[in-house]
Amino acid sequence: MSKHLIIAPSILSLDYSHVDEQLDALRHSKAEWLHFDVMDGHFVPNLTFGPDILSGFKKACPLFMDVHLMVDNPEFFAPIFIEHGADMITFHTEALENDPVRIKNLINLIHSQGAKAGITVKPKTKIEPFADVLGDLDMVLIMSVEPGFGGQSFMEDQLEKVEWLDHMRKELGLPFLIEIDGGINGSTYKKAIQSGCDVLVAGSYVFKGDIIHSIESLLQ
Ligand code: DX5
Ligand code: ZN
Repeated sequence: MSKHLIIAPSILSLDYSHVDEQLDALRHSKAEWLHFDVMDGHFVPNLTFGPDILSGFKKACPLFMDVHLMVDNPEFFAPIFIEHGADMITFHTEALENDPVRIKNLINLIHSQGAKAGITVKPKTKIEPFADVLGDLDMVLIMSVEPGFGGQSFMEDQLEKVEWLDHMRKELGLPFLIEIDGGINGSTYKKAIQSGCDVLVAGSYVFKGDIIHSIESLLQ
């Protein structure tokens, strides 16, 4: 039996001059999650959405809200986004100086507020040092581009991290999901799945083409 694959369209690439029709297409598509990129202009050199925008999307398109925090202070923002409808909060370990105690505390805080918790690392950050927290996590997100912007090229070397995570969860019998974010399209998605990914984030590939068909093509 093939495993369950989840597509998480990234609304960063939505055409904001035609929001209604794109949300309608998403509602009729096979996407199960919406990927919501929060950028603060400090942790990454770009600015995106605040919590009220998340509430609006959740109301208009009631999918699982996958919130990717690219902010300096995720400990402050995680509870606010949970209150506004986040189902999963994924934060960057770099924003917590890769400190294992702060990382564990934030995972616990997210869980105590009723959401799922994920960690993520930038392409240059190693994932192996976080082996000890894998058992506490619902998801690990591997960035296959430098965070900050949609439409960049897929960094294939990041799949080594996916393979390591997939090996670790089999070895330790852990249930966390592996998500990949950046440069996923009709030619890169297969390698990501073969390496062990369960959740594919796709921004420009989904929104620059026919939304329903692009999403479906990633499931084939
Ligand atoms: C980049 C974001 C991504 C972005 C991906 O920092 O985290 O979620 O939307 O866009 P594509 O799929 O166009 O690479
Ligand atoms: Zn993202």
